[in-house]
Amino acid sequence: MKHTKVKDLLNSAPGLHEVKAKGWVRTFRNNQFIALNDGSTINNIQCVVDFANTPEETLKRITTGAAVCVVGTLAESQGAGQKVEIQVSKIEILGDSDAEKYPMQPKKHSLEFLRENAHLRIRTNAFGAIMRVRSTLAFAVHQYFQEKGFFYVNTPIITGSDAEGAGEMFKVTALPFDGTPRTEDGKVNYKEDFFGKETNLTVSGQLEGETYAMALGQIYTFGPTFRAENSNTSRHLAEFWMIEPEVAFNNLADNMDLAEDFIKYVIKYTVDKCGDDLKFLEQRLLEEEKSKPQADRSEMALLEKLSFVMDNNFKRVSYTEAVDILKNSKPNKNKKFQYPIDDWGVDLQSEHERFLVEKHFKCPVILFDYPANIKAFYMRLNDNTEPGKETVRAMDILFPGIGEIVGGSQREERYDVLLEKMKVLGIDEKELYWYLDTRRFGSAVHSGFGLGFERLVLFVTGMTNIRDVIPFPRTPQNAEF
Ligand code: 4AD
Ligand code: MG
Repeated sequence: MKHTKVKDLLNSAPGLHEVKAKGWVRTFRNNQFIALNDGSTINNIQCVVDFANTPEETLKRITTGAAVCVVGTLAESQGAGQKVEIQVSKIEILGDSDAEKYPMQPKKHSLEFLRENAHLRIRTNAFGAIMRVRSTLAFAVHQYFQEKGFFYVNTPIITGSDAEGAGEMFKVTALPFDGTPRTEDGKVNYKEDFFGKETNLTVSGQLEGETYAMALGQIYTFGPTFRAENSNTSRHLAEFWMIEPEVAFNNLADNMDLAEDFIKYVIKYTVDKCGDDLKFLEQRLLEEEKSKPQADRSEMALLEKLSFVMDNNFKRVSYTEAVDILKNSKPNKNKKFQYPIDDWGVDLQSEHERFLVEKHFKCPVILFDYPANIKAFYMRLNDNTEPGKETVRAMDILFPGIGEIVGGSQREERYDVLLEKMKVLGIDEKELYWYLDTRRFGSAVHSGFGLGFERLVLFVTGMTNIRDVIPFPRTPQNAEF
């Protein structure tokens, strides 16, 4: 007989036929009641062991963490909290788990402790829920774009270009550290390296994605992205997953519409599919926030917050308006910002973004038309901007509790303007000849954005540290597992 998933058993009507279940013991009470979980759902199935007729030897081996196979009948449950239970007639221990040594004890563990045990933390309710939600969100991403006729493009992970021009890249090389080949002037001779040139892990698939949008029309990428920025924050990973749609003939307004519609869709899809997990995570957050001062607690419970995002328009505000608001804000006047806002042109820090979203507008915000100086080279220069105060058609989406969740723009489609900008910034036009070619042959207005997948998972699960929403986080000084 094949075993049935716990999720399906819990949804079945009780009956006299035999069922088989396999999973891991969460708890074993009174030498009689096993709470069995197999990962298919946050809910355990209760398995009632006939302890009088089960050898002592076997009973001793039913410990937290052990893998077991039970056979029995699915009966109506007498106990509270479940409709059905398995009246066990046969139990087999598939894999023992030494209760003394098993790190995942049936009690509350700190998130720090669980991070150190990332290979076992998935066996807790919270991490099971988070990872199921993550999987559902990923599926929703594909479903959204596929339904809309976008094509999924796999852009390279090893690349020769720095898409963001920020230089925060991990080098990829097969050269030896000892006896590195050098050129006559003492520099590393990459001609002798594997690819015959300097290469790195991608920081974004955008530039390659643009070439595909300029042929297939609407594309998206969804892949791993690497940043060697040494920011040890609860919002940054060195390896994260990014979703990057790119659409030919879309302008900035179309781009904002797409991003907003997309985010609402994937949240709705996940709320519909992951009810049990989200209810659990909502409760977890409430518990966690009990220890915080009132002012630091969320104003809305998790599911209410998700509904709020789905049901309300994101507020669209230009950078210039935002800077005015910030300049005149209480925390700025009272010198509460670590980085005071005095002048137009400064880059916004997360404290400013969070003020705008959480205190001022109290809803997701799309900031657009940023100063050209603080944004990447490929963004479309606005027409009619004041010299010295040039702006570009950039947009960032800011979320409560998260800060920036999306960064995107309309792209500079004019060959001459783009080339000039690259020259000014010292970006090697020979290296990016292929990118420039899209502007030489059949150029057109086009736009796209990047959404940090883990920041979305953070928002939807109500977790607060990005290390807790990716299976095996990579951060400065940490590449365990
Ligand atoms: O704003 P970013 O750097 O934009 C780009 O890379 C563009 N090429 C995207 C595009 O237009 N196609 O990154 C996009 C998003 C951010 O808004 C953030 O959500 C996420 O990626 N992100 C990170 N997430 C986790 N850890 C990091 N270190 C991240 N850096 C960016
Ligand atoms: Mg950004």
